[in-house]
Amino acid sequence: MLVPRTTPLITGERICERVRELAVQIVDEYCGEEPFIAAGLLRGCYVFMADLMREISRLGGHVRELEFMVCSSYGSSTESSRTLEIQRDLNIDVRGERVLIVDDIVDTGHTLYAVKQMLLNRGADDLNTAVLLDKPSRREVAIDADFVGFTIENLFVVGYGLDYAQRYRELPHITVLEERPEPD
Ligand code: PRP
Repeated sequence: MLVPRTTPLITGERICERVRELAVQIVDEYCGEEPFIAAGLLRGCYVFMADLMREISRLGGHVRELEFMVCSSYGSSTESSRTLEIQRDLNIDVRGERVLIVDDIVDTGHTLYAVKQMLLNRGADDLNTAVLLDKPSRREVAIDADFVGFTIENLFVVGYGLDYAQRYRELPHITVLEERPEPD
């Protein structure tokens, strides 16, 4: 069975520290005092989004609205583009709005790429992207996030919002899933 390794890959303390650094970078390079809409991609984004937005707010960044969408991109892994399925859309018209897309991880890149294109097509202005984790070795489409917390190897990680079959999102750190024998 697959279970989270007890030794974290990234400790909760290190995540806190890095989220603070990212908030400083985002305020310096993106928000300034201009209001923006934070668009989080559920469910994975929820912990990172909450921590990041509070840090940005502490630094004087002007988060005008927090919005969320639930979506997934699907198709065969050999396709360079996939269909974006929106299960719950943003509850705001982004035309002319500055938008920061927030997600937990960019892996193949399909989700971030598709959401970014969709919001640009809707007229979003000054669109930027922030992710906690980046797995560049898995990329299938050419997209990089503007703000990245950590770049990691191709490991299956859980915690701090990331799940395995909807489990382990609540872990305060990020850790690798490992195979362990079933208990008798
Ligand atoms: C995960 C993650 C990203 C996406 C990244 O979402 O939260 O949104 O996959 O993968 P990609 O770069 O290969 O597109 P998932 O669909 O697992 O849903 P979740 O957010 O509910 O965990």
